[in-house]
Amino acid sequence: MDNVTEQKKIMLSGIKPTGDLTLGSYLGAIKNWAERAEQFDCYYFMADLHALTTRNKPADLRRRTLEQLAQYIACGLDPQKNTLFLQSDVHEHAELGWILNCYTMFGELSRMTQFKDKSSKNADNINGGLFTYPALMAADILLYQPDYVPVGEDQKQHVELTRDIAQRFNNLYGETFKVPEPWIPKVGARVMDLLDPLSKMSKSDEVGNGRICLMDDPADILRKFKRAVTDSDNGDGCVRYDPENKPGVANLMQIYSACTGRTYSEIEAEFVHSGYGVFKPAVGEAVVETLRPIREEANRIISDKAYIQGIYADGAKKASYIAGKTLRKVYKKIGLVEKPF
Ligand code: TYM
Repeated sequence: MDNVTEQKKIMLSGIKPTGDLTLGSYLGAIKNWAERAEQFDCYYFMADLHALTTRNKPADLRRRTLEQLAQYIACGLDPQKNTLFLQSDVHEHAELGWILNCYTMFGELSRMTQFKDKSSKNADNINGGLFTYPALMAADILLYQPDYVPVGEDQKQHVELTRDIAQRFNNLYGETFKVPEPWIPKVGARVMDLLDPLSKMSKSDEVGNGRICLMDDPADILRKFKRAVTDSDNGDGCVRYDPENKPGVANLMQIYSACTGRTYSEIEAEFVHSGYGVFKPAVGEAVVETLRPIREEANRIISDKAYIQGIYADGAKKASYIAGKTLRKVYKKIGLVEKPF
């Protein structure tokens, strides 16, 4: 039975339940996961331990974790074909996380742009977990020996560090971990804030006018797109893909392309005779239609508590089995005494 699963390549990824999932989380990550279920053996989790690096109200964290699972399923992650679980249900993550901390260098962690960015935004809570977060992320990944880690552009550096940690460990102790590849989507890898197209659309930002959440209602989505920033200079008013000079327009084109499957030149041709006044609502409509079935399905699933519980209980069982195998191998290699029980 094991041989059957081992023949398929493995894919793994996770999202922190620190805020409501956004269009960025969907286009940069989940949409691409959902398209791979037949081809790969897939593991997706709610990175609830990672969420603790910022302060959350306990009730909010619990609610968001379960809503996120419902949204994963509503986005097309079929629990029969994907292993869906909560990170904190599989204790091997925290255990391997500690071990990999001891194989991750201070200098490497100091160079992580996310750490620099997050610590500058949360100067009153630069905790140890925020700093060593990439070692836990490496553990999340390496436990499952995946071939690919599908993430948005902002997580690429963490996956690259994971590769370095795996190689370092393998060099010291012999082949233990598969060295995974980051898998970055061609379109949607970096969805930007609608009001500040130089910053990424983030689920943990306080104010919501520049970001679209999966559960936003259609009127809100249309309103936010109508107010989206286009040219900040005295632009020519043309719908043209030019990320350097027209980052707002390029971001809207990226979103439109990801939602409709049209290329940038097809989009330019479509709006050649109309200005932003026509283009922005069209992007809004495309997003509304993309998110409508997801929102409806997520609302239906979230109300079925027993179903959700069954999914993450089954997922944790399957994930623990694989994670346990890798952790036992690691314990043995580094010289921890084998458990007599
Ligand atoms: P997180 O929770 O910040 O984001 C989850 C996923 O969504 C992608 N993403 C975006 N993509 C495009 N445009 C955006 N505006 C945008 N915002 C978010 C992210 O790149 C990511 O793929 N550390 C990770 C969670 C994690 C993880 C892991 C991922 C923990 N362990 C192991 C992969 C493997 C994080 O904070 O992602």
